[in-house]
Amino acid sequence: MYLRSLKLRDFRSWPSLELELEPGVTVFVGRNGHGKTNIVEAIGYVAHLSSHRVAQDAPLVRSGQDNALISATAVNDGRELTAHVLINSHRANQAQINRTKLKSPREVLGVVKTVLFAPEDLALIKGEPAERRKYLDTILATRQPRLAGLKADYDRVLKQRAALLKTAGGALRKGYDDADGAAALSTLDVWDSQLSSLGAQLIYHRLQLVAELQEAVPEAYSTIAPESRPAHVEYRSTVPAVGEPEVIEAAMLAELGAKRQREIDRGMCLVGPHRDDLELILGTDPAKGFASHGETWSYALSLRIAEFHLVKGTGSDPILILDDVFAELDAKRRTRLVEVAANVEQVLITAAVDGDLPHNLEETHTHYVTAVDDAELGRISRMDHE
Ligand SMILES: Nc1ncnc2c1ncn2[C@@H]1O[C@H](COP(=O)(O)OP(=O)(O)OP(=O)(O)O)[C@@H](O)[C@H]1O
Ligand SMILES: [Mg+2]
Repeated sequence: MYLRSLKLRDFRSWPSLELELEPGVTVFVGRNGHGKTNIVEAIGYVAHLSSHRVAQDAPLVRSGQDNALISATAVNDGRELTAHVLINSHRANQAQINRTKLKSPREVLGVVKTVLFAPEDLALIKGEPAERRKYLDTILATRQPRLAGLKADYDRVLKQRAALLKTAGGALRKGYDDADGAAALSTLDVWDSQLSSLGAQLIYHRLQLVAELQEAVPEAYSTIAPESRPAHVEYRSTVPAVGEPEVIEAAMLAELGAKRQREIDRGMCLVGPHRDDLELILGTDPAKGFASHGETWSYALSLRIAEFHLVKGTGSDPILILDDVFAELDAKRRTRLVEVAANVEQVLITAAVDGDLPHNLEETHTHYVTAVDDAELGRISRMDHE
């Protein structure tokens, strides 16, 4: 697929931006802090309903404004759809496809599909398990948008169950002989069964995905870093089960039973996909803490390349976004990345200077981003000329 047009209103440093885009390679060039990443961050936001830089939406809305609007028209196999996402600072976000208002912003997922490479990807290796869970869940949702609904349902039940463990610890400890204790424990039973049912489905889909990654990641890694040791990924779960969702559900329920006392004591949910991790192994060691800087970069790139191939495998090419990555890479890794980008329907690249770009890129469309500062409203970005 490719993005034919992008409109922004009050997104980060952009009071307004209207861009017509074409298939092939497009480069955004401009000095540091001039608003290049803000553009691709907006595109990523329509695709995933989250930013690759911040967990909260508030920083995405331009300083002094109440909301930000992103409109993106994507062409997929000749079919054109426009996704609009309104990011509200103080209310729930809203989304629309063409002229149809959606009940939930989640319904907009799938109109735009992107795979984004960014310096922040180093956190996939060095960061907490949450980074790697987000990696897995983002691929799941990009390939099957309904799984974003499953994840949201799981998170909702998790939150309620966690609140019960946190606030009703006293009652829960009294046990079934006490009226308050029995009531709290039976509420916990209800949450346990809902959490297990949703959690098992999520684990099931993640396990299937990891099986695919077990082929794709080592392959990508060995081409990027042939001199390094082999890469290997493994799903590490708090629920010791594999197989059909029913099997995982039974195991999760049993594990919740086994850990119940400890959960009550600590006042938190210790079992479920929200505690799982994607283990990244290099040779015989975990990549985190063992990999060199170069190996860490190679691993991060491999995860994104694998993501690109897996998303592409279930439909048309996702839009490939390379945010400021070439400057960080040596010549060999640059070349590998350009090979991945070759023949992709649309590639969007940001770079501070033309010199950061590899020479062997296909013919490109270039946009220059210039920014002017405004003392009162913060930074204002402008597109200069083509
Ligand atoms: N909510 C906001 N309102 C106004 N300005 C913002 C907001 N969020 C970020 N900015 C401004 O946007 C600018 C950063 O833009 P961006 O990250 O796109 O830069 P960039 O061109 O990618 O730079 P680099 O080359 O360093 O990566 C900063 O100057 C910041 O002040
Ligand atoms: Mg940037």
